[in-house]
Amino acid sequence: MTDIQSRVGELHRLLNQYSYEYYVKDNPSVPDNEYDKLLHELIDIETQYPEYRAEDSPTVRVGGSAQSTFEKVNHDTPMLSLGNAFNEEDLRKFDQRIRDRIGDVEYMCELKIDGLAVSLKYEDGRFVQGLTRGDGTTGEDITENLKTIHAIPLKINESRTFEVRGEAYMPRKSFFSLNEAKAANDEQPFANPRNAAAGSLRQLDSKLAAKRKLSVFLYSVNDFTQFNADTQSEALDELDQLGFKTNQERQRVQTIDEVMAYIKKWTDQREDLAYDIDGIVIKVNALDQQEVLGFTQKSPRWAIAYKFPAEEVVTELLDIELSIGRTGVVTPTAILEPVKVAGTTVSRASLHNEDLIHDKDIRIGDSVVIKKAGDIIPEVIKSVLDRRSKDAATYHMPTHCPSCEHELVRIEGEVALRCINPKCQAQLVEGLIHFVSRQAMNIDGLGTKIIQQLYENNKIKDVADIFYLTKDDLLPLERMGEKKVDNLLNAIEHAKSNSLEQLLFGLGIRHLGVKASQVIAEKYGTMDELFNVTEETLMGIHDIGHKLAQSVVTYLENDDIRALIDKLKEKNVNMTYKGVKTSELEGHPEFKDKTIVLTGKLNQMTRNEASNWLALQGAKVTNSVTKSTDLVIAGEDAGSKLAKAEKFGTDIWSEEDFVQKQNEIEG
Ligand code: IVH
Repeated sequence: MTDIQSRVGELHRLLNQYSYEYYVKDNPSVPDNEYDKLLHELIDIETQYPEYRAEDSPTVRVGGSAQSTFEKVNHDTPMLSLGNAFNEEDLRKFDQRIRDRIGDVEYMCELKIDGLAVSLKYEDGRFVQGLTRGDGTTGEDITENLKTIHAIPLKINESRTFEVRGEAYMPRKSFFSLNEAKAANDEQPFANPRNAAAGSLRQLDSKLAAKRKLSVFLYSVNDFTQFNADTQSEALDELDQLGFKTNQERQRVQTIDEVMAYIKKWTDQREDLAYDIDGIVIKVNALDQQEVLGFTQKSPRWAIAYKFPAEEVVTELLDIELSIGRTGVVTPTAILEPVKVAGTTVSRASLHNEDLIHDKDIRIGDSVVIKKAGDIIPEVIKSVLDRRSKDAATYHMPTHCPSCEHELVRIEGEVALRCINPKCQAQLVEGLIHFVSRQAMNIDGLGTKIIQQLYENNKIKDVADIFYLTKDDLLPLERMGEKKVDNLLNAIEHAKSNSLEQLLFGLGIRHLGVKASQVIAEKYGTMDELFNVTEETLMGIHDIGHKLAQSVVTYLENDDIRALIDKLKEKNVNMTYKGVKTSELEGHPEFKDKTIVLTGKLNQMTRNEASNWLALQGAKVTNSVTKSTDLVIAGEDAGSKLAKAEKFGTDIWSEEDFVQKQNEIEG
């Protein structure tokens, strides 16, 4: 071995050791400049003797060349998410479900780190690939960026092959200094450490990512057979041994009361941590018990995430603005003095309708309490009455449409005010926006701003006009380049071959949702067939009621609509159903052609998910239990439908029975 080679080896060892002590153990043994000095020595050697530049050299921490995209990679096993608990009751139910199934249990309580899930693959002890969670099935290859995170070992001491998973995050300190630097450069700051971490990991230039000081906590291993562990706790200890960073605040507990105490402790102390957490994760500790409990389609049954309650803040209600939806409903929106809530700045929140404003007695100029429902959608909870100024007047909705000035009406039995002018500009624009939306014609790139401009410039007045757009119509619009126009025209061209249900849904026929559009398109196959349909025959389709049938028939009888459809046909917009015929679905013999009713509250999936899954197996999911119902799947608190099924002697399954069957079928 040459001297240089042995020095390179020595530098690797020292730099890896210092990184480990500093970033994993939080216990540095040398000053920062000592690390930097050795790193530069290594960089110099590698520049002079490229043959000594190893793939796992500590110099990769400074980042490499920029990439043009991130490659999409399938996960070996899906990266699932966790079911949520929002209060003590949810947690006690979770505990009861577990104990009913497996008896005595020990839990591992962990902090729920507010970052991004990542998977790290090691081959023969070397870090070879790091992925984002993506949609759970496919992630993006962000290996180069992850290598810049010092807490991730580039190699471990044992020549083992496995995958570990955890949360990459930005420590609060890094976040604050990053935002300070951004402010100094007049750049938009990141709203919270999670966004900052996400932005950094999605940098195509890993040199930039290296400047963002990220870290990671590993919390699970993908395949326990690669580890000597019988419990989650032993697996985490083994990860510690191997040099990974795990969160040390974890705690094993034996009872749900101890879980509650752990939650209380961290609810009180979360602000003292060096990183953000958004809840607590509770996991069944023993791996053999985890195995018995298994998974639903989305999440493990052996774990749950307790989410901290949404943050509430007070701000000022500056004004109430009105927006007009596609169907003419007028919705009041609160215009707020911008305020930070749960990480992002909020300046608008829906007030839903006039009744809500009056019930809560919300007045312009009030101090109002804001929170984010599900930590996403901002909501006004109430006014702070003792801060109300004397001249704050009760709010009254206008009598006329703010867009077209037509008189507004309140339809009997509805809380909403509506503009019933069919030519109201605001409604027409909303209708166009709906037509191109994802579940309808799915025309990418045709956003609200573009549609508004095209409408105002008289380029599109109805949905068919979209297919008549030319380059010349689009190029003059704000922020439109050649490339963007080409992409947009391509997307429009592509949408012409959509299946009939997308077009039907996109037309915005009152009461016609995605599901009914699908059912009708499948049943009738073509638009021309649909033109001949009567209310009676439509109502013969299960799930289609009188109101919807009437709405569809009236809509299709209208001469203007017939002309619109002809205008679409002229441009070769597809008018046939292209999806799979449910009757031709192979399905599963257990469910195929069975009539099934879902009732009660399901815990492991939504009703919709259960229903879609059953439909794919060829079952017909109906609403009410009759003598011809083959099976009732009853969740919690099932009421009269369950009683009826018992009376008829219909087969009844619990949610657990159903999930077990799903697991059997899906293997
Ligand atoms: S365990 C099967 N443990 O929370 C999923 N997740 O939906 C196993 N998270 O996306 C996840 N801290 O990224 C687990 N200590 C922890 C966690 C944690 C944060 C994230 C994770 C996941 C989400 C839960």
